[in-house]
Amino acid sequence: MTEVNEPRRRFLIGATSFVAGAGVVGAAIPFVQSWNPSAKAKAAGAPVKVNIGKLEPGAMVTVEWQGKPVWVIRRTIENVKNLAMEEHRDELRDPDSEVNQQPEYAKNEYRSIKEEYFVAVGICTHLGCVPNYEPDGRAELRHALFFCPCHGSKFDLAGRVFKGVPAPTNLIIPPHQYLENNVLEIGSDATTR
Ligand code: FES
Repeated sequence: MTEVNEPRRRFLIGATSFVAGAGVVGAAIPFVQSWNPSAKAKAAGAPVKVNIGKLEPGAMVTVEWQGKPVWVIRRTIENVKNLAMEEHRDELRDPDSEVNQQPEYAKNEYRSIKEEYFVAVGICTHLGCVPNYEPDGRAELRHALFFCPCHGSKFDLAGRVFKGVPAPTNLIIPPHQYLENNVLEIGSDATTR
């Protein structure tokens, strides 16, 4: 049990550090702190705005929404190319994400509104640990992935689970929308208004 809960605990510590360290984050993502709702509103699940204008290709930022870590990743051109490769699709349990794990507008091979940006709830669909982002991939896989340290589940950069791992389904895509070209809102979309 400790084994499973540990990464969650780490996220809670990480989320606290994220808020506390907003000065540092603010240098790269200037509006993350100022636009975040109050703690009370956050607990009630208020949407969170993120300025992604300075997110470099390959970089990821984590924000907290409804007490959960939500990742925003700017995929590289190579990442996008890899997602569409036929041999990569063969490695996946549910390449078309037929199990309903995303809003309608993210029901495509990138599981996102824009190819370049990926937004997902960073919680493993096996037993709830927080996977690690591994932008350089690992020996057995040539491309970037998320790797869950608890029992070894692997997800690609569209959050699609690989075959032969314990996680049963793809990562969840939260409701989200672009308010402007570089401003993302997590936790709200046309269907939630
Ligand atoms: S929680 Fe078991 S593999 Fe992620």
